[in-house]
Amino acid sequence: MFSTRKSAEKILQFYKNELRRQISKTTSVTNSDSMAPRLDQQNIKTQNEETGPKRLLKLQKYHRFLSTLTPQQMPLAARGLAVSKDQSREFMACFPDIVRDLTETGKHIDVPEASKWLAKLLQYNVPNGKKNRGLATVLAYKMLESQENLTPENIHLANIMGWCTEMFHTYQLILNDIMEGSEMRRGVPCWYRQPNVGLGGVNDASMMHSAMYSTLKRYFSNKPYYKNVMEMFNEMLLKCAIGQHLTRLMTKTDKPDLSQFTMEKYEAITKYRTSYYTFQMPVGLALLMTGVDDPETHRQAKTILLEMGEFFQIQDDFLDCFGDPAVIGKNGTDIQEGKCTWLAVVALQRATPAQRQLMEDHYGSSKPEDVQKIKDLYEELQLPHTYSVYEEATYDLLRTQIQQVTRGLPHDLFFKILDNIFRRSI
Ligand code: IPE
Repeated sequence: MFSTRKSAEKILQFYKNELRRQISKTTSVTNSDSMAPRLDQQNIKTQNEETGPKRLLKLQKYHRFLSTLTPQQMPLAARGLAVSKDQSREFMACFPDIVRDLTETGKHIDVPEASKWLAKLLQYNVPNGKKNRGLATVLAYKMLESQENLTPENIHLANIMGWCTEMFHTYQLILNDIMEGSEMRRGVPCWYRQPNVGLGGVNDASMMHSAMYSTLKRYFSNKPYYKNVMEMFNEMLLKCAIGQHLTRLMTKTDKPDLSQFTMEKYEAITKYRTSYYTFQMPVGLALLMTGVDDPETHRQAKTILLEMGEFFQIQDDFLDCFGDPAVIGKNGTDIQEGKCTWLAVVALQRATPAQRQLMEDHYGSSKPEDVQKIKDLYEELQLPHTYSVYEEATYDLLRTQIQQVTRGLPHDLFFKILDNIFRRSI
């Protein structure tokens, strides 16, 4: 049994490496990916002058299989985990309880202004995203728990745990926006740009973090899984901090250091900054709540979920550049911010010396003409096509990997999460 699993893993690893090799193959095929349909120069020029839906339609014409650009259904990055309306309502209905618990009269009675501030902080920052992590926690719990334990009380607890993952996420976002000097988040100004916040946002992030621990204590301290849950949140905190640190190393001066933009670094940053807490954490917490704490089950879930995390981040990077702002809810700024994205890494792998120089000269600039030059280069290097090949192949590979998962982990749970990323209907 053990050796069968090992050999299955080996075969999967081989295919994975092969896929990576295909995507990372560089020097010898610069600008001439033989699988890619050539875009004639006339068309490139016309596309560059177009933006929004028109541009997307053009891209779709050339990249018919680019599911991310198919308009009928939006990818997870844009629309959130597809759960039923009832589930969404059930989740939202718990949020006022969380705020009330944390700010109720009787708590910090001598400083009522602090409770008022905390309520505002929670309302502005926690419930307005896609709530992927929170909803995934509840979905996973419901799919993992035995029927007899799916009591209203336990389901309520799963929803509370979901909000704890959202508070953890919010804590990360508040700090991240300060460190990156971001302007907008979820269509509104970032918290630190609110009147009377500024660098006080660092303190507010701590408040958010302790609010999460307070909630965990209140609802879960008498549960047998409390210690494991606390350890998981602590572990995730360290992972995210490492991810932030790796990101900061990429920018030594105010210019991005393109020599650091390698696929290995990109994968490490993605794993630490996003995949652990966005994908592994919700399912890991749900497993703990159902009493499953054996390392092998958690390891299997983690392996597949981290793969999905990378898929999600690469899609996110692609959408930031080529997605429709009206659909993804933000104007992409990865190029302006000089971020180490999948597109930048693959572009550098494929670039001629002249194209590399163009990246050196214009990547990380906020001037619209510089941003356009980078986008033109991406198209010249056929990156939308490469992405479509990657997306299709990764989807198939992940489906195969899910089928290898054992230890009583329901394949359907992973298929649901995957299909939400890939944007195919469930
Ligand atoms: C944004 O995450 C930051 C990442 C880790 C990619 P989401 O796209 O899930 O953010 P919200 O919560 O829906 O705004």
